[in-house]
Amino acid sequence: MQSIPIPNINLPVPFSPEQASTFAPHVDALYVYLVTLTAFFTLAISAAIIFFAVKYRRRQAAELPRPIAGSMVLELTWTIIPLMIAMTIFVWGASIFFKAYRAPNQAMEIYVVGKQWMWKFQHATGQREINELHVPVNARVKLTMTTEDVIHSFYVPAFRIKQDVVPGRYLQTWFEATKPGRYYLFCTEYCGTNHSGMGGYVYVMEQAAYQQWLSGGTGTESAASQGMKLFQQRGCASCHQVEAGGQQGRGPTLYGIFGKQQQIEGGAAVTVDEAYIRESILNPRAKIAAGFQDQMPTFQGQLSEEQILQLVAYIRSLGPAAQRQGGATTGTQTTVGPTTGGVSPTTQRSNPVGPTDPRQGNASPQLPPAGNTGNANRQQ
Ligand code: CUA
Repeated sequence: MQSIPIPNINLPVPFSPEQASTFAPHVDALYVYLVTLTAFFTLAISAAIIFFAVKYRRRQAAELPRPIAGSMVLELTWTIIPLMIAMTIFVWGASIFFKAYRAPNQAMEIYVVGKQWMWKFQHATGQREINELHVPVNARVKLTMTTEDVIHSFYVPAFRIKQDVVPGRYLQTWFEATKPGRYYLFCTEYCGTNHSGMGGYVYVMEQAAYQQWLSGGTGTESAASQGMKLFQQRGCASCHQVEAGGQQGRGPTLYGIFGKQQQIEGGAAVTVDEAYIRESILNPRAKIAAGFQDQMPTFQGQLSEEQILQLVAYIRSLGPAAQRQGGATTGTQTTVGPTTGGVSPTTQRSNPVGPTDPRQGNASPQLPPAGNTGNANRQQ
């Protein structure tokens, strides 16, 4: 899509938020188009009303208008022109929508879990953050999102992305930030008492600063590596092979399964994606892999959404490197230790007594000073 420049006019109230992602100019251009179109028709119709009211006003008490039998030309005109205008809005809007909600294959993976009242992020490399998200500039970042409780909505105005998170489902969106800086993110779906405090910041950093940030945390472990531990602890390994060419166990071999088509009982096939893995963990009977028995117990209520995402990351990491698409990297930082990426346990509590106010930056002690432009480094 061509980027249409938005005139930079200094209004007392900004016309739109800062543009900080590759989508932003496209969304704004469409928005300007809609506003212009609306303004044009509002003015044109108002002017026509006034003009006709004056021109065709009744001048004598007995005056009767000439009857009109209809006009095909007029009717076609006022049908076809608005249809064409409406189609421009539809086609333009749909093309931006598909771009924004179809994540590219090559992207950094970040898992997002919404919860009353906070946003929890987990990087593929294991760093975990609450109400803060650090990402590199000029990189595609794919968010796989869900919620532990009610519906929330993830919104970063400067990126022009917004996505509801729904219990029991994975939703995806993505962005590519274009400018280092700090951008407000918040929940836009009323979700209870502290809904208004459910926000934070996205920190867009230069590559070097981001790498420094990544290595600056306390002991972290990649999401896939944490998933591998869960996989052992929960006994998954007793039925599921994870090696290439291994003997098929009681359950399907998981090596290289991510992204493949899986035949299921009943003849259909499903793509092995995040949602299918999640469903198979929580409700194994729903879609049983063809040729296997209905033997797997459910893990409903035994795993948190974050743990399920770690298992997904692990299963995703099994297979040839090319297939992983940079998603889950195992074993890069496998220091055993706290796995919260420097987030103190108190800030992880559910239902905080007072609302966290991201504007005060008190959500987390290592928050860089306000106005930070990306060269943030963690003070621990
Ligand atoms: Cu979460 Cu509003």
